[in-house]
Amino acid sequence: MTTSQTISSIPFDLRYTLPPVEDIGDTTEEIRDKQEKIRQLCRERSAIVLAHHYQRPEVQEIADFTGDSLGLCQKAAATSSELIVFCGVHFMAETAAILCPDKTVLLPDRRAGCSLAASITADELRAWKARFPDAVVIAYINTSAAVKAESDYCCTSANAAKVVRAVPADRTILFLPDKFLAQVVARQTGRSNIIAYPGYCHVHRMIRAQDVADMMEEHPDIELLLHPECGCVSSCMAKALDGSLPANRTLFLSTEGMLRHINESPAKEFAVGTELGILHGLRKQHPDRAFYPVNPDAVCAFMKTITLDRIIGSLQDLAPQVHVPAEIAARARMAIDRMLQLA
Ligand code: 13P
Ligand code: SF4
Repeated sequence: MTTSQTISSIPFDLRYTLPPVEDIGDTTEEIRDKQEKIRQLCRERSAIVLAHHYQRPEVQEIADFTGDSLGLCQKAAATSSELIVFCGVHFMAETAAILCPDKTVLLPDRRAGCSLAASITADELRAWKARFPDAVVIAYINTSAAVKAESDYCCTSANAAKVVRAVPADRTILFLPDKFLAQVVARQTGRSNIIAYPGYCHVHRMIRAQDVADMMEEHPDIELLLHPECGCVSSCMAKALDGSLPANRTLFLSTEGMLRHINESPAKEFAVGTELGILHGLRKQHPDRAFYPVNPDAVCAFMKTITLDRIIGSLQDLAPQVHVPAEIAARARMAIDRMLQLA
């Protein structure tokens, strides 16, 4: 695998503004009242609330369904509700809008972006493709609709290796935008003709090898679960191979993959290397087990812009809505459908 040079001169960290993570400070009673208000508005408007695993606990609690990015979009497409309150980030709401063009998709806060999705634009992808005209383009689901529209396949962290294996072995792959996921996939598939875009998620990148080493020193018998976007994946994969990390207890899993794995694992202690929001559901579902964040600062400020107050405002005003232009949606849909056909 090789990593491409950045296409544009704009550094990734300057492409987005991180919103502050507000401390809401509601009492239990205030939370309950707001949740009841949301339920009432949903009944009046026949709306459904979908929430990603990284959302605030009180938002996850009010959701009709919690899931990973693809699962939520599929749920949006399958529901009979015409109005979807999407408690996640913009690229996810766009994917839902692509999969169900006749429904209204609300994203309660416009600031809910994604540093990883911001790392590549459609123009940059077109310029990259022009340098490798015969390559197959695989875009992670954390991309804008316009970038998906320029791609051959979409993938998620749960199915990236499967999508890569579907591409004939002699074809070069442009894999974007996450360089860490690209490293995991290259190792899992043994493929050397993957060219990785150099993007990253600012939250997962800060989950580092030293955090893992500290965790393993404190909890030597723990099961280690790492999202493939983490900054430490390459060194942890190498350490699992040379025995400095326990190979049978070092797992590289998507958000949904972690939840599934924990359901089946007999282990009692888990080190969780992803955004902290996932801990709420895990601790609720498995009160008899212990979950430790590999990096307790791994908080996605974009995800936390969605609050109960903003959900109420969004349901009252039916705004902000997420729309994808029909021509872009049609091309992006082809990349998504190619992925789904492999599932
Ligand atoms: P999932 O596809 O696992 O939901 O992940 C999306 C994401 O934003 C990871 O940081
Ligand atoms: Fe994007 Fe990272 Fe936040 Fe996921 S955790 S939404 S990849 S910024």
